[in-house]
Amino acid sequence: MRLDKLLSNLGYGSRREIPALLRAGRVRLGELRLSDAAQKIASAAWTEIRIDGEPLDPPPGLVIMMHKPLGVTCSHKDEGPLVHELLPERWRRREPQISSVGRLDKDTSGLLLMTDDGPLLHSLIAPKAQVPKRYHVKLARPLRGDETETFAAGTLMLQGDETPLRMARLDVTSPTRAALTITEGRYHQVRRMFAAVGNHVLALHRDQVGGLTLPDDLAPGQHRVLDEAQVKTVLSPPRTAAANR
Ligand code: URA
Repeated sequence: MRLDKLLSNLGYGSRREIPALLRAGRVRLGELRLSDAAQKIASAAWTEIRIDGEPLDPPPGLVIMMHKPLGVTCSHKDEGPLVHELLPERWRRREPQISSVGRLDKDTSGLLLMTDDGPLLHSLIAPKAQVPKRYHVKLARPLRGDETETFAAGTLMLQGDETPLRMARLDVTSPTRAALTITEGRYHQVRRMFAAVGNHVLALHRDQVGGLTLPDDLAPGQHRVLDEAQVKTVLSPPRTAAANR
């Protein structure tokens, strides 16, 4: 890829601004000062590039896990605080842009994946992907006792939907708290599932997507870039997940 395209795609400036960066001698490949915007850079050499002595941002194919805080919206353009605003400012100018993998509601916290890898995004959100997602819920009313069976049946119809939900796994931890693992991502699915059994979700937190668990040391609002092995973990769910029951 041309050097100016590489740098502008990573958000370091427009194709017109990059030559100024190069003229100022701020971009180096090892000891070599890079000055030709049209120079082709092999992808193997990207990790050797330094700007002001700092390594380049991660190349395209970026997968991030974020601890989404409450009160933040998963969108590029809605009003109010957005998850994209929690990423480094430069990353918001990247091309291809970084999108969230599915959505968590504004009032839901927890593990949110984000990526600029279109095919990966689609393979994770495609209905046939059936990636298990685990949610911890706090409920307004004590559980009745029949919810585990109802959710596991694979026959529950939510209002307005045309097909029943796939079976889901409910692990009850107290009369008003439980973990629900689902393999779909329908609109407000968890809240609507509990509404369908006469309850109301007071708090919702996702801590697992596929085999990836939100680390304890990732505070709300923080993010971390996943390595290849962690990305594979997302796609290889633990055997206890609902899909494998
Ligand atoms: N189900 C919901 O109701 N909300 C979310 O954010 C995710 C799943």
